Amino acid sequence: MAAESTQIATTEFTNPNLEALYSVDEIQARIKELGEQITREYTGKELVLVGVLKGSCIFMADLMREIDLNLTIDFMAVSSYKDGTRSTGDVEILKDLSNPIREKHVLVVEDIVDTGLTLSRLLEILGTRGASSIKLASFLDKPEPRIKKELVIDYTGFVVPNKFVVGYGLDAAGRYRNLPFIAVVKDPSAA
Ligand code: IMP
Ligand code: MG
Repeated sequence: MAAESTQIATTEFTNPNLEALYSVDEIQARIKELGEQITREYTGKELVLVGVLKGSCIFMADLMREIDLNLTIDFMAVSSYKDGTRSTGDVEILKDLSNPIREKHVLVVEDIVDTGLTLSRLLEILGTRGASSIKLASFLDKPEPRIKKELVIDYTGFVVPNKFVVGYGLDAAGRYRNLPFIAVVKDPSAA
C-alpha cells in the first residue's frame, strides 16, 4: 500500500477545529426523554410546535417524532439585531406563523438560549395572540451570558458552557448546521 493512502483525510465532520461535546447517541437519548415528558404534559391539549428558523430545524424534526400526540407544527423566522456580536433585543419578524394560535397550546422550539433577548421578545410578540398557553423548549441552554434572567426554559436538552457551539442545526456564519453532533469551535476566528 502506498504511504500516502494511509493518511486520514479530514472531512467536515472530522474537522480538527471541532471538539465534540454531545454525541448522536446522547442527543437521541435526551430527546426521547423530552418527548416523553412533553407527551405526558400535553395529553388532551391542542398542541402547536413553533420552530424558530433556521437553528431549530433538526431539533424540531427529532423532537416531534418523540411526541406521541395529535399535534401541528408551524415556523417563524426572526432576525435579531446585533450590536457587535451581542443581540440587542430588537427582533424583526422575517417569516410569521402560517396559522393563528388563538386557544392553542404553543410550544416554541428553539436551538439555544444565550442572552435570552431574542426569545424574550419573540415570546412577548406571541403573547398578544390569545394562545391558551405558551411554553419554551430549547435544545441548548447557555446560562452564563443570560441578560433576561427571568426567561423560563420549560424543556431543556442540555446546559452548555459559555463557548461557541455548532452542529445539530446550530451554525457559525451559516456553516456546520449539518453536523449530526454538538461541538465546540476551538478557534472561532478559523470557523
Ligand atoms: P440570544 O438573543 O442571545 O439568546 O440569541 C440566541 C441566538 O443566537 C440563538 O438562537 C442562536 O441563533 C445564536 N447563538 C447563540 N449562541 C450560539 C452558539 O453558541 N452557537 C450558535 N449560535 C448561537
Ligand atoms: Mg436561533
